[in-house]
Amino acid sequence: MNKAVILAGGQGKRMKADMPKPLFKVLGEPMLEWVISACERAEIGDICVVKGFMGEMIDEYLGGRYRTVLQAERLGTGHAVMQAVPFLKEDESGNTLVLCGDAPFIDESTIKNSLEYHCANNNAVTVITAELENPHGYGRIIRTEKGISGIVEQKDASEEQKKIREVNSGAYWFRTADLIKLLDKITCENAQKEYYLTDTISIAISEGKNAGAYTSENPDIIKGANDRKDLLNLNTYARMAVIEKHLINGVEFTCTDGVIIERNVEIGTGTEIMAGTVLRGGTKIGNNCKIGPNVIAENCKTGDDVIINTAQIYDSEIESGVEIGPFVHIRPDSIIKKGAKIGDFVEIKNSVIGEKTAVAHLVYIGDSDVGRKVNIGAGTVTVNYDGIEKSRCVIGDKCFIGCNTNLIAPLKLGKAVYTAAGTTVTRDISDYALVIDRGVMKVKEGYTIRKFKSQL
Ligand code: UD1
Ligand code: CA
Repeated sequence: MNKAVILAGGQGKRMKADMPKPLFKVLGEPMLEWVISACERAEIGDICVVKGFMGEMIDEYLGGRYRTVLQAERLGTGHAVMQAVPFLKEDESGNTLVLCGDAPFIDESTIKNSLEYHCANNNAVTVITAELENPHGYGRIIRTEKGISGIVEQKDASEEQKKIREVNSGAYWFRTADLIKLLDKITCENAQKEYYLTDTISIAISEGKNAGAYTSENPDIIKGANDRKDLLNLNTYARMAVIEKHLINGVEFTCTDGVIIERNVEIGTGTEIMAGTVLRGGTKIGNNCKIGPNVIAENCKTGDDVIINTAQIYDSEIESGVEIGPFVHIRPDSIIKKGAKIGDFVEIKNSVIGEKTAVAHLVYIGDSDVGRKVNIGAGTVTVNYDGIEKSRCVIGDKCFIGCNTNLIAPLKLGKAVYTAAGTTVTRDISDYALVIDRGVMKVKEGYTIRKFKSQL
């Protein structure tokens, strides 16, 4: 069976952080995750991650999804793969893909096409290469009339070799049984005193085995980050690539400033995305919506014709025709049903807001089920927490909740209940009732004249 080894031992000293480099994020996901998901999409499910610097953080991130092996000392890419030999020996029948955990843009088609090339040529090893304008720093691919003869690292290259623009991406296919044998033969006799994985190519050739280079159509597979400036460049690159995909799908962007759309987000046609919109995780936006400016939506699903302006929405569902904003916070596990309106300075948490209900301004609704065509007045608070327990409020269809109503949960208001402004409701109310809870209003005529005589 085919499998993959992902090298993730890098520290990234120039990142200046106590974190393994492959965990730095590009568009909200660690670079390692991009590499893993490329493998998964290419149907390679048997993966071993070689960890090194702060390897426990890699384990913590993976949470047991894939196995890891520790490279205790950083002695080169060949040495890193040696740590995975027990994993390789479990099944030597297929091929092994070696990838760098800090080159996030390796893609499914490069993986699949290079494997096809690797198998068709009966290669012991196939290196995936790219042509670069500026090849500085990368291993150069040495070609002869007979094919490739090896890879020379920047630090070991002659002036003539440094001119070669075809470089090693750091990704390879190996016949697993050959990889195990080749790893035994590499030494650290080179400028960096490291065990170079790249030496497997010349060794394979010297033993009469086939070695080849597969040039990727997508030179971006080579992009990596050595410092934070590179990381920003990767983010910018990925960000624009995602936006371009949505443009092709019929999404409108008039200005992409501050627009960050993570790669698994789906957006329907005819939707307009405005400046400052950040769509994360598994967010799905419907057709003909207007999203932004200044919206964060994480793991949200919206219907069609939804308008969201200046809001933060997490793990919630917004049905068709809903209008939200400005200045709205919708916290996890909320459902805003068709045609509802959520206006400024409203917070909603773990609640259902019924169809065509209006929560126009200055309201907190938590742990509540609000019916259809309800009007919630300004200043209404569902008092869902008594300091120990959270409880639910149920508000029936067509209720009219007056301004500054406190609804002390647990509480159930029946159908079409009215509450007078300023009321604190402390027990269940049956259908069609009016609740008024007010002190007796007193008026003292002429009071301020008596009190402030001289100033008035
Ligand atoms: C390597 C290749 C070079 C190629 C380049 C592509 C070698 C000798 N050279 O160079 O030909 O053009 O990648 O980026 O392989 N790693 C470990 N343990 C180690 C050393 C590295 O896990 O002891 C990991 C790194 O974290 C990284 C990957 O291997 O993910 C590549 O290592 P890096 O140091 O970037 O390799 P280069 O010397 O740049
Ligand atoms: Ca590198």
